[in-house]
Amino acid sequence: MPAVASLMTRAENGGATPAIAAQDKRHTRTMSENVPVLEARGVTKSFGGFVAVQNLNLEVNRGGVHALIGPNGAGKTTVFNLLTRFIQPTAGQIILMGEDITTLAPEFVARRGLVRSFQISATFEKLTVSQNIRIALQRPHVDAWRFLGTGADRGKTEARIAELLTSFDLTAYANWRAGDLPYGRKRALELAATMATDPQVMLLDEPTQGLGFEDVERVADLIKAIGATRTVLMVEHNMSLVSRIAGRITVLRSGAIIADGDYATVSRDPQVVEAYLGSGRRRARH
Ligand SMILES: Nc1ncnc2c1ncn2[C@@H]1O[C@H](COP(=O)(O)OP(=O)(O)OP(=O)(O)O)[C@@H](O)[C@H]1O
Ligand SMILES: [Mg+2]
Repeated sequence: MPAVASLMTRAENGGATPAIAAQDKRHTRTMSENVPVLEARGVTKSFGGFVAVQNLNLEVNRGGVHALIGPNGAGKTTVFNLLTRFIQPTAGQIILMGEDITTLAPEFVARRGLVRSFQISATFEKLTVSQNIRIALQRPHVDAWRFLGTGADRGKTEARIAELLTSFDLTAYANWRAGDLPYGRKRALELAATMATDPQVMLLDEPTQGLGFEDVERVADLIKAIGATRTVLMVEHNMSLVSRIAGRITVLRSGAIIADGDYATVSRDPQVVEAYLGSGRRRARH
């Protein structure tokens, strides 16, 4: 067995959370369109003389969980910053659902359905879990929910809050202040608040960082369930988790893609083995 395969030991499936998919039927039609929902075409980013991302050609297909992995400093967060338009590429194009968004301001990118978790979901510590979800639903860019709070439709808001609480296993915590939540539940609230904005593509940068084992499993199940109806692009160092929930994996090293494919393919790739074992900067966790 290649060394990296043992690094990426496949974990047992702890059971997905079906509620998100079951309650979220609005996106099932578009799920069948197997075209890239998000693309980077020839994207390069230089910081002064240092090339952090080099001629990146990344295709993210609609639906499922796509992991972006690589050693520390490979450029993963920089790629997220480029995709969400937080930073401007030195060269190349970013395409969202067939539309060139390379010069679009970040708030318009979010409005078009490409949402980075922390960007939207910073929780209000003194408000309850329900109140946090309500605020996320009422954010001005959540077009589908703009009518909320206008009397007749108030019932829909309450129903959607209840759905999200159920989907993210937060019903028992509905009246807890966000600041009092256990860490894993707080991460679930961040995901629920992001989902409330009705994204097409959700970008998660190290979503299980700092979580204990049980919380990692719970959050992984939530992400997998989100991938059943939306598209998730996720940076993650926990390889057993990546092997369990990501249908596709892109491996970045020194700002360039060295492998792309399913777990079995990338874990056998000699360059991936070298990237993870040869650099001494490995941060794969189990
Ligand atoms: N604003 C910046 N100015 C200069 N260099 C930067 C800037 N942002 C990132 N870099 C450099 O670009 C490289 C890629 O950084 P990035 O944070 O994207 O890596 P990463 O893959 O997310 O790493 P990690 O796994 O540690 O989070 C690093 O060498 C980093 O020092
Ligand atoms: Mg990073």
